[in-house]
Amino acid sequence: MSAHPAGEVGSLRVAPSILSADFGRLGACVAEVDAETDWLHVDVMDGHFVPNVSLGPPVVASLRRYSGRFFDCHLMMSEPGRYLEAFARAGADGCTVHVEVGGTDDLIDQARALGVRVGLAANPDTPLSAVEPYLGRIDLLLLMTVVPGFGGQSFMAEVMDKVARARAAIDADGLALDLEVDGGIDPATAPVAVAAGANVLVAGSAIFARPDPLGAARALRAAAAAAR
Ligand code: DX5
Ligand code: ZN
Repeated sequence: MSAHPAGEVGSLRVAPSILSADFGRLGACVAEVDAETDWLHVDVMDGHFVPNVSLGPPVVASLRRYSGRFFDCHLMMSEPGRYLEAFARAGADGCTVHVEVGGTDDLIDQARALGVRVGLAANPDTPLSAVEPYLGRIDLLLLMTVVPGFGGQSFMAEVMDKVARARAAIDADGLALDLEVDGGIDPATAPVAVAAGANVLVAGSAIFARPDPLGAARALRAAAAAAR
């Protein structure tokens, strides 16, 4: 599995979050931003780990027919282990689980065995020390810049200190690890996150809630690239 290229580790990537797209025409929304999209960020919410529900494996499988992009699945779920295989089979290229749910070693093993890229996420108030033991075993560290659950929230600049410390740890140990930020990313905040060390930028409302999503994705990329 994981047939769609992730790109070079550490390179700048823009990952539109479909959470802010029109779910009635998801395929068209995804195709519309394709030219400015590196990854597609798929937010999965279980109504338990976060107080919202979004979508599941069938939607990933359907979308797979409309996009050849790397599907970056963010599992905001209390029991992601019950669903990893279903997401991998549906066409997920990467699966990110939250460290707060526990059982992280087993979840990493399980995702690895399924052949997907393995991500680990931390909420804004979760310290870097909670994810540090796993940095050598994962492909992506996601540091949330909002409390997960909803699109359209404000970027939490106070997370940037953690991003900078994560980047320092990654570089110091020469780890092949992408550093992703998610929440409130727009052309004003993206450069701040990139300057702190993030290289994968998730953006929902700043792309899909804009009148010209393709132009918005291009503007976001340009703003981020200028900060590299
Ligand atoms: C938040 C999700 C995000 C969200 C980002 O719970 O994980 O991916 O869709 O949305 P914006 O970019 O609107 O903050
Ligand atoms: Zn997300």
